[in-house]
Amino acid sequence: MNVDVLLGLQWGDEGKGKIVDVLTRKYDIIARFQGGPNAGHTLEFDGIKHVLHTIPSGIFHNGTKNVIGNGVVIDPVIFSKEIDKLKDFNLNLQESLLISRKAHLILPTHRILDAASEAAKGKDKIGSTLKGIGPTYMDKTGRNGLRVGDVELADFRERYNTLKAKHEQLLSHYDYDYAQDLLQMEEDWFNAIDQLKTMNLIDSEHYLNSALRAGKKILAEGAQGSLLDIDFGSYPFVTSSTTTCAGSCTGLGIAPNRINKVFGIFKAYCTRVGSGPFPTELFDSIGEELRANGHEYGATTGRPRRCGWLDIPALKYAVEINGVTNLIMMKSDVLSGFDIIKICTHYNYQGEIIDHLPYSSEDGLIEPVYTEMPGWKEDLTSLESYEQMPETFKSYIKFVEDQIGVPISILSVGPNRTQTIILEEVVN
Ligand code: GDP
Ligand code: IMO
Ligand code: MG
Repeated sequence: MNVDVLLGLQWGDEGKGKIVDVLTRKYDIIARFQGGPNAGHTLEFDGIKHVLHTIPSGIFHNGTKNVIGNGVVIDPVIFSKEIDKLKDFNLNLQESLLISRKAHLILPTHRILDAASEAAKGKDKIGSTLKGIGPTYMDKTGRNGLRVGDVELADFRERYNTLKAKHEQLLSHYDYDYAQDLLQMEEDWFNAIDQLKTMNLIDSEHYLNSALRAGKKILAEGAQGSLLDIDFGSYPFVTSSTTTCAGSCTGLGIAPNRINKVFGIFKAYCTRVGSGPFPTELFDSIGEELRANGHEYGATTGRPRRCGWLDIPALKYAVEINGVTNLIMMKSDVLSGFDIIKICTHYNYQGEIIDHLPYSSEDGLIEPVYTEMPGWKEDLTSLESYEQMPETFKSYIKFVEDQIGVPISILSVGPNRTQTIILEEVVN
């Protein structure tokens, strides 16, 4: 059997958690392939709203296995809190949640380094989630990191102390006061490590490949979005992992020729949290209306999200890099009520009209060129089929499909599991 991949095409928070939850019943295994607790994936069903950070979004379905892959970075403390929050749901996590021994651990000093680095950057800060993501991936590629499998080794404490000492040396270069916090952070961390040790730790690449041989279906769940990718995002305002489709191969140990469908998920407009270029960002009352209607506040940090119109050149770029086979459009309901809806189809880049993302996209260099479309007044949140949709909304869908050249297979018209319209059966 093959692996399908679901990933974000914008700057994250597209609604990945909701759709993975909706699609889970079609799969045997849901596997997160990168990122860490910088992610916040929201699921809503049966009057419950739940935010997951490290745990894959298939966790609420009995019988589905959820794998945290080797490409993920885990903060044991946040992970332990996530587990606690699941206690009321009567899930057998020992059975359904499997953790790669090769996933890297976020240490307390990684979080401190993240904060110190951001503070030192001042107005040029990345706007990181301060979860220690950058420093942890730096230690991974720098070959210094601690991995989940290390917790089973007799000299784990020594390894921890060696890495902590390296971090303290680095921290001495910053004017950053952390000593007071560190003791408590370490105590919490080691308590959480004890809990992690009791969980189902596996060699996930073997597990996943055996599952494929046995005919199991796997959905790889991405975190963040393609425009935050370490290589293809708006560097340096990116995260530190490969958020694009290739990341599912390295983050799970799955060969590229195993990948079948690639579901690219995007909002019917754009949002971004943190710093960095955002060509279609709105600074006016329309931007505020999008934020208010879409409840655009970060699921992990609570920060207000920057909002703007849909950006087709950026979307096309993400579709190309990922080989997207099916599009999933989210939050269409948030656009109800606008007289005019704008879509950016090109950029004016220093006087030249282009339809691709240029190397430099800093503020001021790119001016979006918009097509205007009539909006719709109807509330979309109780729509159940394509036939019920307002004609103006159908035109919006068609326009986007024509521009991108890939079909929209699923539409989301509200946060709930049930507010999902399958236009085309995507999984057999
Ligand atoms: P993720 O990180 O990609 O999983 O997305 P987030 O959970 O961070 O952000 C998406 C937000 O939009 C969450 O609050 C969801 O509950 C909500 N949401 C998802 N789909 C829809 C939709 O179609 N309409 C509306 N109004 N909200 C949605
Ligand atoms: P999900 O999976 C939106 C952003 C941060 C910051 C940049 C780097 O919920 O879509 P980091 O902490 O990774 O070093 O921050 O990336 N960012 C996200 N934005 N959704 C996310 O995850 C994000 N994860 C990181 O705001 O701009
Ligand atoms: Mg999110």
